[in-house]
Amino acid sequence: MPLLARAFDLLVLGGGSGGLACARRAAELGARTALVERGPLGGTGVNVGCVPKKVMYNTAMHADFIHNHMDYGFTVSNVDFSWRKIKERRDAYIKRLNGIYQRNLEKDKIEIISGSASFSDCSKPTVEVNGQQYTASHIVIATGGQPDIPTETDIPGAEFGITSDGFFNLEDLPSRAVVVGAGYIAVELAGIFSHLSCKTSLVIRYDEVLRKFDTMISGNCTTELESNGVELLRRSKVGSVSRNSAGRLVVTIARENAADHTLSDVDCLVWAIGRKPNCHDLNLSKLGISLDSSGHICTDEYQNTNRSGIYALGDVCGKALLTPVAIAAGRKLASRLFGGEANARLDYTNIPTVVFSHPPIATIGLTEAEAEAKYGQNTKVYHSTFTPLYYAVTEHKRKCVMKLVCANANEQVVGLHMQGMGCDEILQGFAVAIQMGATKANFDATLAIHPTSAEELVTLR
Ligand SMILES: Cc1cc2nc3c(=O)[nH]c(=O)nc-3n(C[C@H](O)[C@H](O)[C@H](O)COP(=O)(O)OP(=O)(O)OC[C@H]3O[C@@H](n4cnc5c(N)ncnc54)[C@H](O)[C@@H]3O)c2cc1C
Ligand SMILES: *[C@@H]1O[C@H](CO)[C@@H](O)[C@H](O)[C@H]1NC(C)=O
Ligand SMILES: *[C@@H]1O[C@H](CO)[C@@H](O)[C@H](O)[C@H]1NC(C)=O
Ligand SMILES: *[C@@H]1O[C@H](CO)[C@@H](O)[C@H](O)[C@H]1NC(C)=O
Repeated sequence: MPLLARAFDLLVLGGGSGGLACARRAAELGARTALVERGPLGGTGVNVGCVPKKVMYNTAMHADFIHNHMDYGFTVSNVDFSWRKIKERRDAYIKRLNGIYQRNLEKDKIEIISGSASFSDCSKPTVEVNGQQYTASHIVIATGGQPDIPTETDIPGAEFGITSDGFFNLEDLPSRAVVVGAGYIAVELAGIFSHLSCKTSLVIRYDEVLRKFDTMISGNCTTELESNGVELLRRSKVGSVSRNSAGRLVVTIARENAADHTLSDVDCLVWAIGRKPNCHDLNLSKLGISLDSSGHICTDEYQNTNRSGIYALGDVCGKALLTPVAIAAGRKLASRLFGGEANARLDYTNIPTVVFSHPPIATIGLTEAEAEAKYGQNTKVYHSTFTPLYYAVTEHKRKCVMKLVCANANEQVVGLHMQGMGCDEILQGFAVAIQMGATKANFDATLAIHPTSAEELVTLR
């Protein structure tokens, strides 16, 4: 006889950013909640994403500042860097976070079910974990995603490469790295390696990185990568990977407009070519939940799948893969299901994003091209390129570029794109204004803070 299924009001599959936020909000609202997680609590963002990435970005920033110390009058000698030391401290911090997440769930009386979840019964959706069955009036799929890697048939030797997950496991700084990909994770990892003095090549299919961003950003970011010493292999693909007798990787590069190329002294190859949703283990096929062509779960704007009582949110849906997006979607859904807020849903427009490149990129809203497609002649763009005061006295200089995209006669600000020192921290406040519908005139009516880079945004002409 089958074990009796245990029943809850809400069952959340996945203890990452979205799942945790949804479960906690639901529990606060009185729902009997359980959460299934097969790995460490916190998901991608805490364990192999935002958090360790930002620690390594900060590490790279130290290396960056050291180069400017002399220009500012400091004598710096014997600078040694230990990757192991920062990795140890980073791992310890993440372990602390895992504990905090666990205690928060316990405090909220959310049952933590450790193991891998899979749907087992289709008439009444039932989830199985380690042989035990669970049911709930509402089931949320928040299982996130994982890095994609080419198959052996596509690229022989692909398995010699690692992904962003492996990057965070590296015990030592490689001396020679190849990063493949043109998205933000590729840009960030290549920047970290090269700032820490690892000779780094970035293999991209076309001429620029971040091709989905505003053209000003993709152009300037590509230029900055090169001026920071990253070797850019444009219009290139990895042909094959092998290991030589010295234990190093040999990576052949097929190039569109140039002779093929072999990199024979590589310590570390990182695939950063995209991510795929964690759906295959869920046994979704017989449940009748529709997936899109790349396997992401389809939902409506309320995170409903097409099966009633089953919802999906976060990376598994493939839209705006960001921690705050997953968190906000999770909280809104819980408020809708258990807080009586029938219309609660996340608005996916105006999502601010930062790329932790050198210097950092910050963007929100429409690109210039998107605005032109939407508003045509009624689009007006303002931009500025300048050298921040910090670099006035340094040998190596980095520009700051900013672009404001406005629409209609009142010049409502519908997009803001920038790359420059401090832009990562500048954007959040401007995002509030843009979210409220600020116009160019509102920007202009705001007094400048001098001398800063941010003041440029209220003095654009
Ligand atoms: C290198 C990197 C850097 C990033 N940097 C940033 C950044 O700077 N800012 C930002 O906003 N975002 C960043 N992200 C993206 C961010 O991490 C994700 O958007 C976010 O974690 C998505 O949350 P989620 O809840 O949808 O999924 P996840 O956080 O991935 O959580 C899903 C959880 O479900 C679990 N799970 C999966 N399948 C099952 C199953 N069958 N049973 C039980 N449990 C299961 C997984 O173990 C995981 O813990 C980064 C991502 C990466 C990879
Ligand atoms: C998947 O679902 C089918 C029913 O559609 C069930 O028979 C099977 O046991 C399930 N597999 C797992 C691993 O739960
Ligand atoms: C950098 O941005 C400026 C706009 O501020 C633009 O004119 C320039 O073309 C960009 N550089 C590249 C290489 O795209
Ligand atoms: C969901 O949509 C798919 C088609 O995309 C369909 O095959 C399936 O039957 C639908 N499921 C339900 C429960 O309506």
